[in-house]
Amino acid sequence: MVRFHSTLSDESVYRRFFSQMKLESRVRHERLTRVCFIDYDREMALVAEKPKTAAGPAEIVAIGRLVKSPLKNEAEVAALVTDSFQRKGVGRELVSRLVRFGREEKLGMLVASVLTDNPAMKRLLEGQGFVFESGADPDILEGEMMLG
Ligand SMILES: CC(C)(COP(=O)(O)OP(=O)(O)OC[C@H]1O[C@@H](n2cnc3c(N)ncnc32)[C@H](O)[C@@H]1OP(=O)(O)O)[C@@H](O)C(=O)NCCC(=O)NCCS
Repeated sequence: MVRFHSTLSDESVYRRFFSQMKLESRVRHERLTRVCFIDYDREMALVAEKPKTAAGPAEIVAIGRLVKSPLKNEAEVAALVTDSFQRKGVGRELVSRLVRFGREEKLGMLVASVLTDNPAMKRLLEGQGFVFESGADPDILEGEMMLG
């Protein structure tokens, strides 16, 4: 995970976290413990790995996450693909697996918050069936998809 985070551009970090979260904060031990050891009743995370080769070890190249709401039967979807693997279908594959998982878990709805200038994530989620509208923040689009 530390290596994965060190490969990300500032732009990808901003699009995922909506802030310029510094590498040092992203790889802090307490944070990684929290995001790596998850409660499967509340969360699911999928990673895409580049397999190990003679030239080097396996590497995480993308992470997709589903986090259930504590109050409603819904979950928020997010994904982050490292820059050199973007636009190769990895994000779409991760998100479609998370949507399938949400259906299997009998969730009623999936939600996602996407920056208005992030056409890739908006398009990817629309392809899955998400519908977007502007929220209270003009820079953020709120999307939802009924699963039931
Ligand atoms: C958004 C993100 C997850 C998409 O994953 P990806 O693997 O790059 O995207 P895919 O190759 O699966 O393509 C998905 C769709 O987005 C489109 N797309 C991808 N990058 C794009 C770009 N820069 N501009 C416009 N469209 C783009 C693709 O054409 C494809 O649409 P299509 O199937 O209709 O042609 C990835 O780019 C990423 O991690 N970005 C930075 C973090 C981020 O924005 N996360 C989302 C936070 S909610």
